[in-house]
Amino acid sequence: MNLVRIKEERDIVVARSAAKKIAQEMGFGLVDQTRISTAVSELARNIYLYAGQGEVHIEADCNPRSGLRITFTDQGPGIADIKLAMTDGWSSVKSMGKGLPGAARLSDHMEIQSELGKGTTVIIEKWLPE
Ligand SMILES: Nc1ncnc2c1ncn2[C@@H]1O[C@H](COP(=O)(O)OP(=O)(O)OP(=O)(O)O)[C@@H](O)[C@H]1O
Ligand SMILES: [Mg+2]
Repeated sequence: MNLVRIKEERDIVVARSAAKKIAQEMGFGLVDQTRISTAVSELARNIYLYAGQGEVHIEADCNPRSGLRITFTDQGPGIADIKLAMTDGWSSVKSMGKGLPGAARLSDHMEIQSELGKGTTVIIEKWLPE
C-alpha cells in the first residue's frame, strides 16, 4: 500500500508498517528500516495531532539515487515558524519537540513546506547505500 490516509490514531501504525515493508522490499537493512519507520511514525503522528487528517505517500525513487521518498501532506493549520519547529525540544503543545528534528536526523534529506491556514507538506528521503 503506497498511499495511507491518516484519519485515526491507528492509521499511524498502518503508515509505519507500510513504509517498513516497502523499505524491506527495496533492500534496506534492518537499521535503516527502523530509522524509516520511526520517522514515518513521528511525521504521521504530527498529521494526526495537529491537522486531524492527511496523507502519507510512499514511493520508490531512482533519481538521483535509489531510495525511498515519503511525502506527508495535510490541510491543517500550517506551521508558523518552520525553523523554530525544527529546533530540538521546541513544542507548541509542551510535548518533547523531538518529532521533526528526529525525523530529519533519521533521513538523508528532509524538506518542509507550510502555509498558515493552508497546510503542511513534509518530504523525507532515505537512500540505499551505494
Ligand atoms: N503537520 C503539522 N501541522 C501543523 N503543525 C505542526 C505539524 N507538524 C509539526 N507541527 C508543529 O511543530 C511543532 C514541533 O513538532 P515536533 O514533532 O518536532 O514536536 P512535538 O510534536 O511538539 O513533540 P513530539 O513529536 O516530540 O511529541 C509541533 O509542536 C507543532 O506545533
Ligand atoms: Mg511530533
